[in-house]
Amino acid sequence: MNRVLAHTGVKYPIVQAPMGWIARSQLASAVSNAGGLGIIETSSGEVEACLAEIEKMKDLTDKPFGVNLPILFIKEPRIVDLVAKSGVKFVSTSAGSPTKLLPTLKAAGLIVYHVVPNLSSALKAVDAGVDGLIVEGGEGGGFKNPDDVSTLVLLQGVRERTDVPIIAAGGICDGRGMAAAFALGAEGIQMGTRFVSAAESPVHANYKQAIVDADDTGTVMLNRKSSPCVRALKTERAREIDRAGSFDRPLFGRVRDVYFGGDMEARAGAGWPDRGPDPRDPARGRHHRPHGRGLPRHPQAAGREVDGWRVLTAT
Ligand SMILES: Cc1cc2nc3c(=O)[nH]c(=O)nc-3n(C[C@H](O)[C@H](O)[C@H](O)COP(=O)(O)O)c2cc1C
Repeated sequence: MNRVLAHTGVKYPIVQAPMGWIARSQLASAVSNAGGLGIIETSSGEVEACLAEIEKMKDLTDKPFGVNLPILFIKEPRIVDLVAKSGVKFVSTSAGSPTKLLPTLKAAGLIVYHVVPNLSSALKAVDAGVDGLIVEGGEGGGFKNPDDVSTLVLLQGVRERTDVPIIAAGGICDGRGMAAAFALGAEGIQMGTRFVSAAESPVHANYKQAIVDADDTGTVMLNRKSSPCVRALKTERAREIDRAGSFDRPLFGRVRDVYFGGDMEARAGAGWPDRGPDPRDPARGRHHRPHGRGLPRHPQAAGREVDGWRVLTAT
């Protein structure tokens, strides 16, 4: 039996990644209803809103779903207790050590997978007692580990040295990518970018189209020497930031203007020349965009994505 299926109770071991503000009930319920695992984010730090989203999920689907607890971003520790008591059965922890959270989550009977960006974090998480790992290569972003390791290399190393179930993440965007991850020892996959561009994703059409239009060399890692490090679409703005070598944290304050306003410039204000957005070029500007680009060719339904892979995952 595929252990990820056993742990999650879903039909297909396809997990929708946690993404601040985006991974809420509209998208997560579509994924869960299609047989995958929808995840509700808490990295936005909006505790009440995230709890309300968990409650909404109970109305929108009778299928399993999960919640992510990103350790680095937890400003209100009560969220851990509240999630543990929310009735959810699966939690992914990320961006830090899961050691402190595990007693609460395991006492409540939850299955806990930890997101790891390198081998040493994987070994520590297994020692701490997690049920499984989400092994995420540098294709998936950056702020969890500026010293990025590719999904291909990381999966092989972690599979070699551990025996817990693995969900692979970072740069996976179709059935072939999923099959490759399984060949390397994964029993499930997690995708972010692909689901951001799905029809049920709440983000602005400009952002979906920018993802669809990006090609294989279309991203760049920014702010490698500082924090947070992110992978972004290689736009004029991103090149500018890359040349400068770093950017200020306030830039992140504008991320919702990219996500939901379709303002692909999303400038932080201070320190950046004010050119204003160019409506002819929605892909200009910095925005969080990991590496699994080039597919799909147009926004597709998240449900269709999950369902379309049933042949691969039935084995
Ligand atoms: C738009 C966007 C926002 C994200 N936000 C978060 C976040 O708030 N917290 C987090 O732990 N990971 C975040 N991620 C990373 C995803 O959880 C996931 O690991 C990654 O997207 C997987 O790689 P892929 O996009 O190539 O599928 C984000 C990814 C994207 C694309």
